[in-house]
Amino acid sequence: MTVTDPTGEDSYRTSAQASTMYSDSNHPKRGRRNRSTELQSLLDEASKYNSHYEYDMPRGFLRDRSVKEDIRQEEIERPRESFVPRKKSKSSRSNKNDANYKTKRDSLTETSGGSVKSLGSQKRSRKARSGKRNANNPQNGIGALTPMTLSSQDVEGSDATATYLDDSRVRNQEKQTGEKSTFANWSAIAGNVQFDILDLEYVRSHSLFEGTPTSSTVLTTRRREKSPQVVTVKLQSVLFENYQEEYDICFTRDLNIYNPMSEIGKIVEYMAAIFLPSYYAAKVQNEVIPFMNKAFDEENIQSFVQLVERYNQIVLSIKRQEIVDHLSTVKRIPTIFIHDFLHIVYTRSIFPQYRRLRQYEAFSNYVYGELLPGFLTEAFSKCQLNPNKIFMDLGSGVGNCVVQAALECGCNLSFGCEIMPNASDLSEAQYGELIQRCKLFGLKLPSIEYSLRQSFIGNKRVDELIPVCDVLLINNFLFDSKMNLQVEKLIQNAKVGCKIITLKNLRASGYTINFYNLDSVLNRLRVERFDLKEDSVSWTHSGGEYYISTVMETMDESLFDPSLRQRSTRKPTRYTR
Ligand SMILES: C[S@@+](CC[C@H](N)C(=O)[O-])C[C@H]1O[C@@H](n2cnc3c(N)ncnc32)[C@H](O)[C@@H]1O
Repeated sequence: MTVTDPTGEDSYRTSAQASTMYSDSNHPKRGRRNRSTELQSLLDEASKYNSHYEYDMPRGFLRDRSVKEDIRQEEIERPRESFVPRKKSKSSRSNKNDANYKTKRDSLTETSGGSVKSLGSQKRSRKARSGKRNANNPQNGIGALTPMTLSSQDVEGSDATATYLDDSRVRNQEKQTGEKSTFANWSAIAGNVQFDILDLEYVRSHSLFEGTPTSSTVLTTRRREKSPQVVTVKLQSVLFENYQEEYDICFTRDLNIYNPMSEIGKIVEYMAAIFLPSYYAAKVQNEVIPFMNKAFDEENIQSFVQLVERYNQIVLSIKRQEIVDHLSTVKRIPTIFIHDFLHIVYTRSIFPQYRRLRQYEAFSNYVYGELLPGFLTEAFSKCQLNPNKIFMDLGSGVGNCVVQAALECGCNLSFGCEIMPNASDLSEAQYGELIQRCKLFGLKLPSIEYSLRQSFIGNKRVDELIPVCDVLLINNFLFDSKMNLQVEKLIQNAKVGCKIITLKNLRASGYTINFYNLDSVLNRLRVERFDLKEDSVSWTHSGGEYYISTVMETMDESLFDPSLRQRSTRKPTRYTR
């Protein structure tokens, strides 16, 4: 639903407006107005934490959801307080459904329903525990892998019938297994990457991989040390014969924090659907994927390892030139692949150091939280973010939105500014891993730039970019009134047509144009309100609302203060011949 210029619950703008109005120190009613401003500020701060949002912001920090207190702390220890149980929404979100909903950071954030039992004695759902989606569950909204079943629910204006996969490959898989179980959540996000993302030039000119991406095993060191059942396998790179990534395979540990098998399964499926020439893709889809799904469901480690080896054999049997030739014919890369690809980057770079993101002052402007990939895809699509556009994230955290805008929309420039040192360090770590992994997967990396450890206020580069920026993201969910005022000043120079994505309305309900704010950019915003779906942000399951404000050339006349209009002493203009 879209409502123009809503009269929502946001009130901090009133304070911003008030501050603007009462800045004249010679004003006779200044004292009273100051008091009024203070009162307004207090009210604003209070109303920020609206129970409507069921928010958990000061504690919410990573993209975790659907958590239970009895999660085991093992491979990568997480502080217990980060697993605060949240209210379940009406949709009765089971772990299984959650796993299915999540597309990017799922294997990091799934939680266990209880202690892990030895092989053969597991009573609880294996798929739920291991963060793998169950395509057979109708509740999941996941049907066949065929393009017809792809949902466009998440992306307005996206091509619902977009061909994700070569149909024959899909049918092969269904014929073979009689079921539709997959690792990748193909129907979660519709649409394709907006630009020609495959870096054929790089792939052609480099037959060997020289990078050093962070291996999956970095995340499972303790698992390997503690559990004799762990088997280490190597997954062959499709593009580079000399590179295999190591994974620790084990079904008897808690897999909800990080699930290497789920990641392998996804990579194998994406390789078959996108990267492999059709003959070999069919082989993988017939001989590996269905059985890998089965091995996963049955927690059959031996079989899973053998299937990884079979996949490696098939990949190694392909002449490199055949792969390069095939890639030059690939026209569409599904967005869901980018989500999962970025998730791999995120797990390697952010997760080992995630605790550092908790170091901020509670209820301050610096509270950390993340917008989730599904939401970003939707918002980017609504803003028509594309390779001709410049994207900026003011308060970019670890850079998730910046890298997603770059890889999904191929922006001319994706820019992020972040003030907190720890989040800045992690932005650099994520960017470093991204560079490596893009090469490994033969992907182009569009232009990304950061201004780190610096405020976006009084920032020369930000000031330079604002007038040319096309899409500006400001996660202002917990910004205080002072910060909102500064943001207002900052966007004063935004160009006509610039779209600003925010979680709170930049303009307060009841905002009117008056003598004191005549020049404000707020008068020229066309504000659209959208429903924020459940599971769009890291700190709560609940939905809510978000806003896209477009900078217009002229003022919105409906914002004129009606009382001022009545008091106007100007005589109405008479039109005579
Ligand atoms: C809620 S997080 C949003 C992270 C990311 N944009 C996202 O939505 O996933 C807000 C971020 O803004 C940063 N921030 C707050 N005030 C800032 C300022 N004046 N300059 C730069 N960054 C700021 C905080 O440190 C925090 O990392």
